[in-house]
Amino acid sequence: AQTAVGSAHSKLILIGEHAVVHGEPAISLPFPLVEAKAMTAYAPGSIQIDSTFYQGPLATIPDSLYGLKACIEDTLEHLELPQRDLVIRLESTIPPGKGLGSSASVAVAIVRSLFTYAGEDCRMQEILRLADVSEKHAHGAPSGIDTMTITSGLPIWYQKDETMELIEPQGDFHFIVADSGRMADTRQAVESVTERLKSAPRRIQTKLEHLGDMTRRARTALESASKHMLGQLLDEAQGELEALGVSDSGLNRLIDYARQEGALGAKLTGGGNGGCVIALAQNEMHSRQLSEKLRQFGAQAVWAFSLKKQPD
Ligand code: MEV
Repeated sequence: AQTAVGSAHSKLILIGEHAVVHGEPAISLPFPLVEAKAMTAYAPGSIQIDSTFYQGPLATIPDSLYGLKACIEDTLEHLELPQRDLVIRLESTIPPGKGLGSSASVAVAIVRSLFTYAGEDCRMQEILRLADVSEKHAHGAPSGIDTMTITSGLPIWYQKDETMELIEPQGDFHFIVADSGRMADTRQAVESVTERLKSAPRRIQTKLEHLGDMTRRARTALESASKHMLGQLLDEAQGELEALGVSDSGLNRLIDYARQEGALGAKLTGGGNGGCVIALAQNEMHSRQLSEKLRQFGAQAVWAFSLKKQPD
């Protein structure tokens, strides 16, 4: 039988996480070094899932993965396919629970493979809507930035329900992503910031707006090849994220070390309280050195990747 394959890369939030949930802009980057893949094939009987996190019928998938079930069912309904006779195999190199958008990537990969299986073209609006079914279950009140970035080839400027624009960096930026090793719970982190906003609206609102301003300046930095300015903004944003209570000692340790080893700036990326940090290296050679040092320092995984000016 034929297998229909769908894949999706992961994402990094450069700046503006959490503030984006409350209406401020954020900048995110497609992160192609890790990806999720879904393979759909005909298999008589009920729908089966075959993955490292769950193997068995879709009907009895654990509650924690309920979002995927809802996403698959809605996609089949949209495609007017029967809710049976399928096996969906999932493979992913994206570490889950590390702020890299693993849940959104898996959902997008599944939606793409089901569309291919049905012989239908996959329009962006439909992928986003169907993948967001899963995200809503996984994260409660997601801003939508994860699915948007996972389906983009360029950095994006995102403001919930308002704007999505592609950003073209005018220069080369060399980043390091390092995994603190601790699982992050995005839903819990988002809820904790929302709680803080309820109990101290003025103080927290000021912080969220400050993050929004930094995001605006970070866009200027990307578009004017200002590495030092971007680095400073990453550091400043980390200060506000700490004040919002979403950084932890594992993240702070990696961030301090990256700065000490010459990073132009460093902060957590994604929901925080576990997960990964993103650091801006001085140049390509420094990014290789910094990766090696962070690995020796105990980061669970380290990736070096660059944003490059697109050729004219
Ligand atoms: C998660 O990648 C980013 C958050 O801002 C949540 C969201 O925007 O849905 C923490």
